Amino acid sequence: MHFEQLNKTGWAQTYLLVDSTSKSAAIIDPVYDFMDEYLSVIESKGVVLKYAIATHTHADHITACYSLRESTGCEYAMWKDTPCLGVSHYLNEEDVLMVGSLPLKVHHVPGHTNDHVLIESPTHLLTGDFLFTGEGGAGRDDLPSGRVHAHWLSLKRLDSLDGNLLVCTGHEPPGTEMKSLDWNREHNPVLNMNSFEEYSAWQEKVTAGLGSVSKIKSALPANLFAEIPEEIPWMN
Ligand SMILES: [Fe+2]
Repeated sequence: MHFEQLNKTGWAQTYLLVDSTSKSAAIIDPVYDFMDEYLSVIESKGVVLKYAIATHTHADHITACYSLRESTGCEYAMWKDTPCLGVSHYLNEEDVLMVGSLPLKVHHVPGHTNDHVLIESPTHLLTGDFLFTGEGGAGRDDLPSGRVHAHWLSLKRLDSLDGNLLVCTGHEPPGTEMKSLDWNREHNPVLNMNSFEEYSAWQEKVTAGLGSVSKIKSALPANLFAEIPEEIPWMN
């Protein structure tokens, strides 16, 4: 399997998984700003994009899933109850997407949003904004459809997963080294909390420090309606 984080700039992380034998590929959480780069990577590697998967309805960037579906004919996959339009493949709990011979298992983990999923490959766990690396903790739960208590309950979903899986998150400061689930079990504060009250207090403190999401007013409608705005303020 070939595994790669594609975005060269910014904090949003996009992952490409390629089954080396069949050259089938999946892209997880692609960002519209980097569409051209993704298309040239797909072409230069000679891979066939089977799935573009959004781990959840993103509020901080415009997804490239729908645009990739339009330009490559891949399936745009999201959790079955997502409000997003343009999705062509709806995911259910414990679904296994086959990318060539590479199985990608789906786990529903509502909290950051109610349509959030984890994608588990045999070696990597793609956590979107459900879980960040180490001190990063977890994504905020105060955005549309976010629920602090649901997120707390969803963290239990990790208990049954293999500690050797490498946790690949949706956001990290550039250059952050990916760590295993076991490492995160030791170093991630949200995986070391004993009560909902503790988690809820942590969320409150973290979200107060984050403030508003700068791109939300363009990104959220674009993602819900699968429509790229005529003008994208940060791309001019
Ligand atoms: Fe998010």
